[in-house]
Amino acid sequence: MRSAVTETSSPEETAALAAELAGSLRPGDVVLVSGDLGAGKSTFVRGALRALGVTGPVTSPTFTVSRRYHAEGRDLSHLDLYRLGDMAAEDPSLLDDEVGGDRIAFVEWPEVGENWAAEHGRVVARVRLDHAGGDRRVVVVERL
Ligand SMILES: Nc1ncnc2c1ncn2[C@@H]1O[C@H](COP(=O)(O)OP(=O)(O)O)[C@@H](O)[C@H]1O
Ligand SMILES: [Mg+2]
Repeated sequence: MRSAVTETSSPEETAALAAELAGSLRPGDVVLVSGDLGAGKSTFVRGALRALGVTGPVTSPTFTVSRRYHAEGRDLSHLDLYRLGDMAAEDPSLLDDEVGGDRIAFVEWPEVGENWAAEHGRVVARVRLDHAGGDRRVVVVERL
């Protein structure tokens, strides 16, 4: 397990950090992204998806729980489990194809749903973002 702590001072710097991580990901890998509201979770995931070749809009999946992308021959997904409870109540199998298989998945609010993501896929990294005043964020990337 390796941990890297970086302080960023702009969304671009956080995105660049994500791009670095994205370069090492393989099909089926899952990255968990934690932190308070506005800490930069979606900014981080957007940076990773851009590095993986996604060119269209990358919007936060807060209301849809999951968004899928396909770029450069790879299946990708971006989840926000904040509303997982509501979703699972509707149909628990609805999200089964969003993590695992050959898909590279990024998961915000992984702690919701008792680590649902870890049960569905191979978690290779945990990212934690924290506010550090103004535009500064402390970003911890832990590779498992
Ligand atoms: N260093 C930074 N890293 C990431 N985001 C930052 C940074 N500084 C300012 N921001 C801003 O903070 C907000 C983070 O929002 P978002 O990525 O949606 O957070 P979350 O998904 O954690 O709620 C964005 O408006 C972004 O531009
Ligand atoms: Mg978000």
